[in-house]
Amino acid sequence: MDRQSRVLPQLWLLLRPQVVPSPRFEPRSFGGGLITFLGLCDPRDAHGIISQVMILLDRVTKVYSKDAEPALNRISLHIEPKEFVILVGTSGAGKSTLLKILTREEKPTSGKIVVGGIDYDTLKDRHIPLLRRKIGVVFQDFKLLPQRTVFENVAFALEIAGMTNREIRSTVPKVIELVGLTGKENKFPHQLSGGERQRVAIARAVVRQPKILIADEPTGNLDPKHSWDIVRLLEKINRYGTTVLLTTHNADIVNRLKRRVITIDHGKITSDQAQGSYRQ
Ligand SMILES: Nc1ncnc2c1ncn2[C@@H]1O[C@H](COP(=O)(O)OP(=O)(O)OP(=O)(O)O)[C@@H](O)[C@H]1O
Ligand SMILES: [Mg+2]
Repeated sequence: MDRQSRVLPQLWLLLRPQVVPSPRFEPRSFGGGLITFLGLCDPRDAHGIISQVMILLDRVTKVYSKDAEPALNRISLHIEPKEFVILVGTSGAGKSTLLKILTREEKPTSGKIVVGGIDYDTLKDRHIPLLRRKIGVVFQDFKLLPQRTVFENVAFALEIAGMTNREIRSTVPKVIELVGLTGKENKFPHQLSGGERQRVAIARAVVRQPKILIADEPTGNLDPKHSWDIVRLLEKINRYGTTVLLTTHNADIVNRLKRRVITIDHGKITSDQAQGSYRQ
């Protein structure tokens, strides 16, 4: 067994999705939901049923301004643990708004959201940092810290989570290896290619072993080769058990991945296909 195959299953052991009580039967209050989300309680709910829901949206509407049409208009969907889902739609369709609602960057105007057993209706502002540890996010423009090295950019996510230096020194190299950047630990972002920068951003997003990885147009600034490298990396992370939500305008990626594709148009889901293709 090569070194990577030995290291990664250990690192990603905790990434396996936790089966959670089904929100369809009894959405839990935040306290119970949090424990469930962290995988600390019995995976069966009061009815003895094991849920297959990681993300549940029920008639979610988001209105930014009364003068404009809703950015999201009664969106309902559910996503299972370990799914790889691609969101497509023309510019302004509402994709990023949907993702921001999941990370609680935006609050819905109405509708119900349950993620990993957490009912957002009962989510307090002080619990949001804890929620975000379980949802890694990657953006088109990387959002790296320019004055910090690759190692430090990834380590930063662990520092703010209160991890010890020893834990950081042991964890960060494994994640850097996962994203294929071993040897570049001491480089600064400006010394890296776009594809490498995005790999750092992905390492930072997954270093706390989130249940969900959100990638909002992660290939938007990359050429086709680097775009595919990033998509393959997302697939690898997905194989270790993380639920992945990807938005992209790249039809080739959508058509060749043969994953679940949800199309959004003017804030509504217009199609949801198991092995979908690109349509706008
Ligand atoms: N903070 C905001 N304030 C007001 N309106 C907003 C805000 N963010 C988004 N919108 C509007 O909501 C709608 C949906 O925007 P959103 O960013 O979700 O689209 P998108 O599908 O991600 O588009 P793109 O493909 O260009 O990234 C658009 O009409 C946009 O102008
Ligand atoms: Mg967007």
